[in-house]
Amino acid sequence: MQRRTFVQTGLSAGLLGVSGLSARTRPAQAAPAAHPPAEIRLSSNENPLGISPRARQAILSGMADANRYPQARAPLIEALAATHGVRSENVILGAGSTEVLKMAVEAFARPAGRLVLASPTYEDAEWYAGPGNLEIAKVPLTPDLAHDLDAMRKEAVSASGPVCVYLCNPNNPTGTLTPSDAIDDWIASAPEHVSFIVDEAYFDFVTDPSYHTALGWITERPNVLVARTFSKVHGMAGIRLGYGIAHPDTASRLRRLQVRNNANHFALVAGRASLEDSEFVRRSIAVNERGKRIAKDCFNDLGIEVLPTHTNFLMHRIEGDLRRHIVRMRERGIRVGRPFPPMLEYNRVSIGLPEEMERFAEALRVFRQSGWI
Ligand SMILES: Cc1ncc(COP(=O)(O)O)c(C=O)c1O
Repeated sequence: MQRRTFVQTGLSAGLLGVSGLSARTRPAQAAPAAHPPAEIRLSSNENPLGISPRARQAILSGMADANRYPQARAPLIEALAATHGVRSENVILGAGSTEVLKMAVEAFARPAGRLVLASPTYEDAEWYAGPGNLEIAKVPLTPDLAHDLDAMRKEAVSASGPVCVYLCNPNNPTGTLTPSDAIDDWIASAPEHVSFIVDEAYFDFVTDPSYHTALGWITERPNVLVARTFSKVHGMAGIRLGYGIAHPDTASRLRRLQVRNNANHFALVAGRASLEDSEFVRRSIAVNERGKRIAKDCFNDLGIEVLPTHTNFLMHRIEGDLRRHIVRMRERGIRVGRPFPPMLEYNRVSIGLPEEMERFAEALRVFRQSGWI
């Protein structure tokens, strides 16, 4: 299996990792601290820095208008359109990009259509298909963890009704890329009743030169929607703001499915301020790189297989029971990702602050010393 090529196993690697610990960082059987450190959240791919200072200030200033229905919708949409070189008619807002995914699944696959998606991938598109409403075709990832576009295409061709294809690039939970050119090839040749949601939630973290956005399609193809979020690099997961970019006809179809005023006043003003704070975005990416390095160094030291990532999370192999591993991490005050079937021999860890990743690495070393991983 190709993913095993990332593995470097061996007892010596594990022992080396453990022997490198200082007395201060060796918490194996230490008595519980009087004030245990606060729980750290490495579970939901959030931004550990918080939100941009400019966004925070915009929220505070925005208090003055909290009694009014939101007025800041058009300015944010215009700012997003300018950022992406599109027109305002192309942009739809959501209470998180998850609402955009919901609108798109409904618009593209109903009634009685088929949703084609990878396995594993981000779960929301399937969730919004609703029980029994749509046919679901789940297609395993390729051995190198890209979407299997050929197999997905077969699922699309064999459907009799409308088809909605969900492509998460980079993919959550694996962090891996599907070649952008191959996605382009499929979109270029797809019939109109096959629509594409290209979820680019982690776009800002990608540095691979072969990767590009699917936004180039939205002027000519009404069957393509690109979803983006303020929850990751902008650190606004709790504020709930995302958006979709699509052909004006598609955007207006989707708008009919949204809740009016779905993005609240604070989300709108914070989103606009954050878009202008390129320094914060740069810092978020730099902190993510540092945290990733700490985790990767630990995985290497311990000989733990880790998948290549283009995101703010890492998927690494667990020897033993995944659920027990998650509980053990929780007992040490560290929340890591949930299980992602069928990859139940891997755990997903989101990248936190460098000191949080040191704590995660320390926990892994102790687990290795205890023979648990
Ligand atoms: C691929 C992907 N899409 C969408 C979302 C949802 O983002 P939002 O917070 O904007 O709803 C997530 C959240 O983790 C995600 O990983």
